[in-house]
Order: sequence, then structure tokens, then C-alpha cells
Amino acid sequence: MKYHVEFDLTLRRNPYKGVYIAFEGVDGSGKTTQAEILGKYLEERGIEVVTTSEPRRDRPVGILIHQILQGIVKVPSVSLQYLYTADRIINHNKVVEPALSAGKFVISHRCLWSNLPYGMLDKREVNYDSDDAKTINVAHGLMSLYNQFIIPDITFYLRVSAETAMKRLKKIKEIKELYEKYGKIEKVIRGYEWQLKQFPDEFVVIDAEKSEGEVAGKIRSFIDKKIK
Ligand SMILES: Nc1ncnc2c1ncn2[C@@H]1O[C@H](COP(=O)(O)OP(=O)(O)OP(=O)(O)O)[C@@H](O)[C@H]1O
Ligand SMILES: [Mg+2]
Repeated sequence: MKYHVEFDLTLRRNPYKGVYIAFEGVDGSGKTTQAEILGKYLEERGIEVVTTSEPRRDRPVGILIHQILQGIVKVPSVSLQYLYTADRIINHNKVVEPALSAGKFVISHRCLWSNLPYGMLDKREVNYDSDDAKTINVAHGLMSLYNQFIIPDITFYLRVSAETAMKRLKKIKEIKELYEKYGKIEKVIRGYEWQLKQFPDEFVVIDAEKSEGEVAGKIRSFIDKKIK
């Protein structure tokens, strides 16, 4: 039996007066560093900023996700994908939408654009031109019909090589989370690059190989032009 489904997905834009900014990139690309610098910069200009993260350890589902990533709790990898979505729903409901509707700036470490690059990791063969990639986008699309997330107004993609990401991570991390092994980082980078081609208008690509100050400068000048 076949069950025929056909529909177009429209990305849901931010309907509020607040501004939704997200940072994307592999672990070690500098998201936390840049989110902090940008947050301070905006606050100095008198803008109210709410910083959030997907996932985040102070939410029940986020706690579970971190335990899974560290190998403390074992679940089938697909269920991890649903957990990310469940955590994101809580975040949008409790943090993102209230802040945006109050006219604040939201700065998010990751957003729904992490779904595909990380969701593909549990496939035996990671081929972004295969049906797998389409299936993941459609699956998340179907979920988003049920609960549609707002797409960030600006998503900065911090582009680094797997080598650079590993070098930076080795300096700071003792517990290697599931996603931080070299091969995985390399696959995730390919996922982001594929996604950039599929949705070119959704990303602002930043060369994050440069120094923290240079990267911050690029981000700041983009934001300055946007919010003038
Ligand atoms: N442009 C840069 N040049 C050199 N080192 C950097 C740069 N940006 C960040 N770092 C350093 O790299 C490390 C990782 O950066 P950061 O924690 O910001 O990455 P992240 O993308 O948030 O990683 P994760 O996804 O694991 O949270 C930190 O020690 C940080 O100081
Ligand atoms: Mg971080």
C-alpha cells in the first residue's frame, strides 16, 4: 500500500519586532566565543539581548541529550533527533518567541539548521545527494508542520576546517562528546556545505579560521549594516 503525500514547505519567518540571530558551525568553530562578543556589543548599544542554546543543559530534554552525547545514556540514534526537536520546541515556546515578541534580540547557539548535518551522522554512508538527506529534511519538515519553528533572521555559519576545529577542541575539552571526533566533524562540515548550497539565502558565511577579533569584526559589520 502506498500513502501519497505532497506538499510545499514555507519557512516560517519571524513575525515579531525582535531580531533572531543564530550561530552555526561544527564544534570548535567559535560559536560560544562569537555569541558572547556579539551579545556584549549589542548590550553596550542599549539593546536587550537574550542568549540561548539548542540544546541546553538547564532544560529537562537538554540534560538527557548531553547524557546521550557523553555516552552515559544509550538510545537509538534516531530518537536523539526527536529529542533535539522536543528540546527546540521548549526553547522556542519558553525563550525564543517570548523574547522576540517583547522586541529583544535573541542570540542562539545553534538552531534548526543543525538538524541535517548532525542528523545524517547515524547513516552508514553519509551522502548528502542521496535520498537520506531528503528524508531528513522531509521528516523535519513534517514535524515542522505540526510545530513550525521560526527561522532565524540571520544565521552566521562559522566556516572552519576539521583540522582547525580539532586543534581548538583539544585545548579545552577532556570528555570527548560523540560529535567531536575528527571523522564526524569532517562529515558535519560536508553537511553544512551541502545545506549552504540548498538554502544560500539563509546563511551569512564567515571565515572563522581567522583570529577571534577578525571574526568578531566581520560579524559586527554585518550586524551594523542590518540594524541601522
Ligand atoms: N577565531 C579563533 N581563533 C582561535 N581560537 C579560537 C577562535 N574562536 C574560538 N577559539 C577558541 O576555540 C575554542 C572553541 O571555541 P568555542 O567554544 O567558541 O567553539 P564552539 O563552536 O562554541 O564549540 P562547541 O560547539 O563545542 O560549543 C575555545 O578555546 C576558543 O577560545
Ligand atoms: Mg559552544
